Amino acid sequence: MVMALAGSAIGLGNIWRFPYMVGQHGGAAFILVYVLCVAFIALPIFFAESIIGKSSGSDTFGAMEICAPGRGWKNTGYIAIAASFVVVSFYSVVGGWSVDYLVRSCAGGFSFSGIEEAASLFGRMNSSLAEPLLGMTAFLGITALILACGVDKGIELFSKITMPLLFLLIVFIVVRSAMLPGASAGMDYLLKPDFSKLDGKAIAAALGQAFFSLSLGVGAILTYSSYMRKEENILYSGIWSAVFDTIFALLAGFAIMPAVFASGLAPGAGPSLVFETLPVIFSQMGPVIPVVFFFSILIAALTSSISMMEVVVSWLVDQKKLPRRRAAMLAFTGTWCLGALCAVFPKVFAVCDFTTSNILMMFGAFVFALVVGWKMPKADVRTQFTNYGTSRGGKVAFPTVYFLIKYIAPVMIVAIALTNLF
Ligand code: PFF
Repeated sequence: MVMALAGSAIGLGNIWRFPYMVGQHGGAAFILVYVLCVAFIALPIFFAESIIGKSSGSDTFGAMEICAPGRGWKNTGYIAIAASFVVVSFYSVVGGWSVDYLVRSCAGGFSFSGIEEAASLFGRMNSSLAEPLLGMTAFLGITALILACGVDKGIELFSKITMPLLFLLIVFIVVRSAMLPGASAGMDYLLKPDFSKLDGKAIAAALGQAFFSLSLGVGAILTYSSYMRKEENILYSGIWSAVFDTIFALLAGFAIMPAVFASGLAPGAGPSLVFETLPVIFSQMGPVIPVVFFFSILIAALTSSISMMEVVVSWLVDQKKLPRRRAAMLAFTGTWCLGALCAVFPKVFAVCDFTTSNILMMFGAFVFALVVGWKMPKADVRTQFTNYGTSRGGKVAFPTVYFLIKYIAPVMIVAIALTNLF
């Protein structure tokens, strides 16, 4: 299950979203806040979702019914489901860009002399109606097909090979990127914090990114944890997922930013940043590396999108009693409609991207923290977290984790959300 949880966490959020967030919010200081958010807020929420999922063994909606009986609580399950619906929709657009770039690398790779050419390729691809729609449809289609057939074991097996491969490739790109003339300005940007750029918006973005990257607040970790076997350990699976996820994100930052500075691109360029920068780096690497890279990214993105769509599908199967295939078809149709709007209208994309991580995920995470910290009996929480008293690590960590879930996480979420608002 650690593999599935890490598979959900590691995806486009690390490689595409993290670098562009770092670029928009000032570099090193943002990274520092991000790491603190992961350790003290996101990881406790990860544990909270795992506790709810594992103890209930149910989908998000059913889990709320079991762990927090009462109408109001039950209804918050709908928000988590709606949030995962929105995330899959806009995520599939970026998944579609990856499909597009994979096809392009298979057709002969990239040979750009500078960032302008790479940027114009992205612009052309994105402004044509057919390409983003086609890519998005392919990405969503594969996701839904895998869920309909229930063959996610196959993709998990695949990701056991592509994850380490992706890791090695990113390390390789980090080295190449650092050697580019002018790259040191990018290194400085990532290593020397400038706290004057750190406003309420940046802090909220860091927390939102931590939730997005660890797949929190939408019931994905909850749903996956509901499939956990009894002896599986919540503490270790949470820590490993968070550590791997953060390492991937940081590496992606170090792969992209020096190249951004070396090529004179504005770090705050937004969602297109990675897709404009990578082809320039790849131009000097021959035809094979881009193919392997975009294929690995695609697998990483699919293991994430599967976990998002599974929230919707498992709700339709468990609560609405639909057969799995019909549920997957319905989820595909719904997310395709919103995804198509995101693919065609950048404004819709931006609104979905912003509202999920800054509002819906924060709300979901807040609710999950309250359920575990204030609604569930402490003894039940301890039982789950310590694996019925058998996990030594669980017993030692429990008081701290419980305190973080009960007080620190909800208070910080509210404080950061309010700071952002005003
Ligand atoms: N954590 C995924 C990533 O970083 O790409 C994105 C994600 C997956 C968000 C699952 C939400 C979710 F439910």
